[in-house]
Amino acid sequence: MKRLLLSILVPLALTGCGDKKDSNKGPVGDVDAGKLIAEKNCKGCHGMDGGGTAPGIPHLAAQRASYLLASIAEYKEGKRTHAALKDMTGQMSEAEVRNVVAFYASLPPVPVVPAKDTQHSSPYQEGKALAEPCAKCHGEDGNSKTPGTPTLAGQQPHYLVTAIEEYHQGDRKSATMASAGGSNKMNLEKLAWYYASQTPAQRTAPSFGDPAAGEPTTAMCGGCHGPKGVSTDAATPSLAGQDAKYLVNSMNSYKKSRQNWGMQRYIAGLTEKDIENIAAFYSIQKPQSAEALPSSVKELTDKCNRCHDAGDNPAMVVPKMNGQDRDYLVMSLRAYRDGKRQSSMMHNMSFAYSNAMIESIATWYSSQPPEKH
Ligand code: HEC
Ligand code: HEC
Ligand code: HEC
Ligand code: HEC
Repeated sequence: MKRLLLSILVPLALTGCGDKKDSNKGPVGDVDAGKLIAEKNCKGCHGMDGGGTAPGIPHLAAQRASYLLASIAEYKEGKRTHAALKDMTGQMSEAEVRNVVAFYASLPPVPVVPAKDTQHSSPYQEGKALAEPCAKCHGEDGNSKTPGTPTLAGQQPHYLVTAIEEYHQGDRKSATMASAGGSNKMNLEKLAWYYASQTPAQRTAPSFGDPAAGEPTTAMCGGCHGPKGVSTDAATPSLAGQDAKYLVNSMNSYKKSRQNWGMQRYIAGLTEKDIENIAAFYSIQKPQSAEALPSSVKELTDKCNRCHDAGDNPAMVVPKMNGQDRDYLVMSLRAYRDGKRQSSMMHNMSFAYSNAMIESIATWYSSQPPEKH
């Protein structure tokens, strides 16, 4: 909400405060006055070229002014923590902030050193290793062949984490699952991402239930689970292609012990026959994985760039990243992942990235030639 407000307010402020330039491309303040402030307060760390005087300090040169203003506001409000910046910007007037931002944004981008290291690791590699002990029940790639044991391949990742935690807490009862996966949340997220990216197998109809009779009963399920059981919501499980016996068990468990007020209400009125028909219907629907597996860092960063290249869209307050300091990128991605820097958009993106993956992304961006103004 805050983010939305900011992104609306910043462009409004730009047009509202008497600046001569009306587009978001013009300076947001007085570049010459900003230069004096930079000399006095920022030079020691950010340099006069905006390049950062040590690894780990972000480049400010040629950054979008809207993003620089938003990030300074976050230091002021304590949403991003950095003691020196909080003190310094806390003492600056709104106009001084705009001037120093105008100065840094006006500088030409810092030249990059092209990297030779194009190596990368898959974000799913560590999850795959963690999934080894699960394979004997859930299948090598998460496609289970044992009736009563759910398929995990292609399942929504947030749901998988919740499900495992529910077993650990005893909200869902299963002796085999009571401590599976261990208690490290990061490891659970890595497991979830690995499974989410696997391709679920198409199934043959089970020996019980009538899929055609089940279909009409599922009309009220599609709003959450997707029209044919392929969920697009990270917290709601896909049902398409799931093991039919497991579906029957799980629906019945909502009638008894499994807690979820929404699901309990939807299942309460169903007969045993309805449940079998529904399970038969969903089990033969075409499954789809929740996460497409990027095969290279480039493919992954193409997704990032949908937002980060949103260029001149004044409603998007996003930083440019090409040519940014590598160590700074590593630190900021870890901060989002570990919940130390708040941004709902960025947390969802960096959820469960291994350190190796984060380093590959940082290497890639830091070696990309920065965009011109
Ligand atoms: C003592 C060193 C130091 C000084 C002095 C300093 N900065 Fe920084 N600045 C940093 C570091 C380190 C970060 C990254 C902090 C973090 O991880 O959030 C940063 C981050 C920023 C950011 C966020 C950039 C981004 O990409 O998110 C802005 C904007 C910024 N500084 C502006 C300024 C301005 C303007 C001044 C002078 C008024 C200034 N800084 C003075 C060290 C400094
Ligand atoms: C000994 C066999 C066995 C092993 C090993 C095992 N599981 Fe399970 N798992 C099951 C069974 C059986 C269920 C269904 C229990 C129920 O009906 O609630 C299940 C359920 C689950 C679910 C719930 C799926 C859903 O759709 O709600 C998840 C997630 C899961 N397991 C993940 C894992 C992970 C991750 C591992 C390895 C770290 C693992 N399991 C190891 C047998 C096993
Ligand atoms: C309001 C949204 C909503 C509706 C409508 C809904 N569900 Fe669900 N369903 C969920 C959520 C959320 C979960 C996961 C809850 C949990 O963690 O136990 C779930 C879980 C399930 C599961 C367990 C899957 C697994 O992997 O363990 C089954 C089976 C299921 N729903 C079937 C149905 C059927 C059949 C209907 C229609 C009769 C239905 N649902 C309607 C939201 C909904
Ligand atoms: C849905 C839009 C969106 C997507 C997709 C997205 N980002 Fe971001 N990103 C943002 C926003 C908004 C911010 C600024 C948040 C803040 O102020 O903390 C941000 C901030 C960042 C920062 C901090 C930079 C700085 O100067 O402080 C890094 C690093 C980053 N994103 C990397 C990535 C990577 C890597 C990906 C792809 C894996 C990605 N982002 C995908 C919207 C997005």
